[in-house]
Amino acid sequence: MSDHILVERHGAVQVIRMNRPDKKNALTRAMYRRMSQALAEGDADPAIRVHVFLGVSGAFSAGNDLNDFMAVATGGEGGLEAWNFILTLARAQKPVVSGVDGIAVGIGMTLNLHCDLTFATPRTLFRTPFVDLGLVPEAGSSLILPTTLGRQQAFALLALGEGFSAERAKEAGLIYAVVEEEKLEPAVMEAAGQIAAKPPEALRISRDLMLGNREQLLARMHEETDLFQERLKSDEARAAFVAFMSRKKA
Ligand code: COA
Repeated sequence: MSDHILVERHGAVQVIRMNRPDKKNALTRAMYRRMSQALAEGDADPAIRVHVFLGVSGAFSAGNDLNDFMAVATGGEGGLEAWNFILTLARAQKPVVSGVDGIAVGIGMTLNLHCDLTFATPRTLFRTPFVDLGLVPEAGSSLILPTTLGRQQAFALLALGEGFSAERAKEAGLIYAVVEEEKLEPAVMEAAGQIAAKPPEALRISRDLMLGNREQLLARMHEETDLFQERLKSDEARAAFVAFMSRKKA
């Protein structure tokens, strides 16, 4: 289980890699816990100046593990780990860079909204099929996306569940750059190295200024998560999870 998240340090750069390729990096409760812990430890350690999120070839993340959602839908516990993770990420004290290749679904998309620079590859597809799953947007996406994209593009992504290519995401201002697959990790590490070489205090103050007052965002994240937890137990969501689990592969 523990190697589903690999945490490495390269100088002042902490790399958090999602590493569950057989499940397209679907995120389990234990994976969220490990990522939250790594972010907190990196933030507290003066030797770390930047966090990096990576996935595996072809899969950044297929989002929350739907088996865990199903467990909540049928009366079990869960959900808090994902919430703690996204809150920890939204409050991260140090810059965050992500490198996305391939599948980026659900929180595999929305976590990038809390990164300072996201690189993606031409084969990347960002999707947030919350409504199709009987759910609602999370991670502040119901606020961030309409603000960034405008109401209609946000509706296409969040309500229609339309996929956004890396190019479309870049044009829309959601990500920083599109690079070929083989250049993805070098580009991410180069950018992280550049960030790590900046005067840290000037960088921290500048980043805080750019992020501004986050009260409205955090309030929306709370509101979304309450609704999300309710929706997980809805008939619509249960039916969607059952449909995924009983689907026939081509
Ligand atoms: N939760 C649990 N398992 C998942 C998963 C998820 N979110 N996404 C993928 N997997 C599993 C599949 O069940 C499959 O497992 P199996 O080989 O034991 O059957 C494995 O990962 C590979 O997935 P597969 O569907 O065969 O790959 P694909 O390339 O054809 O499709 C996706 C990839 C991501 C498009 C598809 O798996 C999918 O739609 N997943 C659900 C995404 C989702 O709704 N996430 C929640 C968002 S809130």
